[in-house]
Amino acid sequence: MAKASSAASIPETCAPDAAPASNASSMTAAERRVYSRMADTMSYYHNHFKSTWKTLYTACEKNKRPAGMSIKQYLNTACEFVHHLEMHHSIEERHIFPLLAQRMPVFQREMELLEQHKRIHKGIDALEKYVNACKAGERELRLEEMKDVLDGFREVLWQHLDEEVRNLGADNMKKYWTIQEMERMPM
Ligand SMILES: [Fe+2]
Ligand SMILES: [Fe+2]
Repeated sequence: MAKASSAASIPETCAPDAAPASNASSMTAAERRVYSRMADTMSYYHNHFKSTWKTLYTACEKNKRPAGMSIKQYLNTACEFVHHLEMHHSIEERHIFPLLAQRMPVFQREMELLEQHKRIHKGIDALEKYVNACKAGERELRLEEMKDVLDGFREVLWQHLDEEVRNLGADNMKKYWTIQEMERMPM
């Protein structure tokens, strides 16, 4: 299926019936819901990562764990963050990006979003190593050290979480996919 962007300048009243509507403002509320679905679902997951990150990072900035959170709970929260993010990226790389990459260059191998995954992975590997050493009693949890580990990938992580959702936004998706294709997307 060719991109629909070639019809972008045709006024709606003159457009042939079969041509996909191509400018964002021509979307009905129902169409926008369908075109927004992937961004909405992705946002839901990303907000969860952001919220856990804030818990971990704020503790480092204040040099104080959240009230009532034991060292063990803090380390387990970091462990879960690592595992959930690894799982999220692996699902994206196996099932979501290859499909989107058929028409959307930003999702192609080695392109920006995958490059960001690689850089984030270096960071979460370091985080996992630090947390595991603390859990094994090989070292003591020090929040200033934890902050250094988190700072190692903070910027790229937040940039990635926002850029990915932006690329999946309704107005962008409409440039590449028909509504029927959007309804079949695996998210
Ligand atoms: Fe994601
Ligand atoms: Fe991602």
